[in-house]
Amino acid sequence: MATLKKLGILLSGRGSNFEAIADSIKAGRLQAEIAIVISNRADAPGLESAKRRGLNAVLIASRGRVREEHDADVIAALHHAQVDLICLAGYMRLLSPHFIQAFPNRIVNIHPSLLPAFPGMDAQKQALEYGVKITGCTVHFVDEHLDNGPIILQKTVPILDGDDVNSLSARILEQEHKAYSEAIGLILSGEVEIVDRRVLRKLSRSEGR
Ligand code: GRF
Repeated sequence: MATLKKLGILLSGRGSNFEAIADSIKAGRLQAEIAIVISNRADAPGLESAKRRGLNAVLIASRGRVREEHDADVIAALHHAQVDLICLAGYMRLLSPHFIQAFPNRIVNIHPSLLPAFPGMDAQKQALEYGVKITGCTVHFVDEHLDNGPIILQKTVPILDGDDVNSLSARILEQEHKAYSEAIGLILSGEVEIVDRRVLRKLSRSEGR
């Protein structure tokens, strides 16, 4: 049997995307293993959840620390765990360029809007206030700029007349939980490649020639 690819999960809070990834693995929908879960916050519910699941769950506190020094500790832990792919799952820290260069095209993030619309904080509120009729979520590679790297997968969510931030966020979150595992599966299977900014299926590219 082929060895399973190793995931490193970085989170700061609730951790529902982490839990959805862990559930996908448990259910056999995603062929991977979670080698390490790192939280930068001691009070992150996601950290407790990872411990309850018996995973290698580590606190590397960031408060009051210089970004580069904190990142260096996180990088060392990820190297030690020999991760193949790093998944940001509600990780509320900007990564230093050094971090991104340490794992080229090996860091992914999920964002609750259809990027490039509504990057940054409160993406669901931004979409609601702007008045768009369709929003959703995006799984993308991480580069030096905020919510900017090549897009792996997106799922759409309609905005209903009666929506408020809570109801909209909940419907987007349902799609996030599906999208993240799907995107990770695509990357780990080696079926996709990055061409300029586009993430393309290798198969369909050769068929299209
Ligand atoms: C999600 O909405 C995700 O898209 C954003 O942060 C939130 C994290 O939620 N990056 P959770 O901690 O995974 O429940």
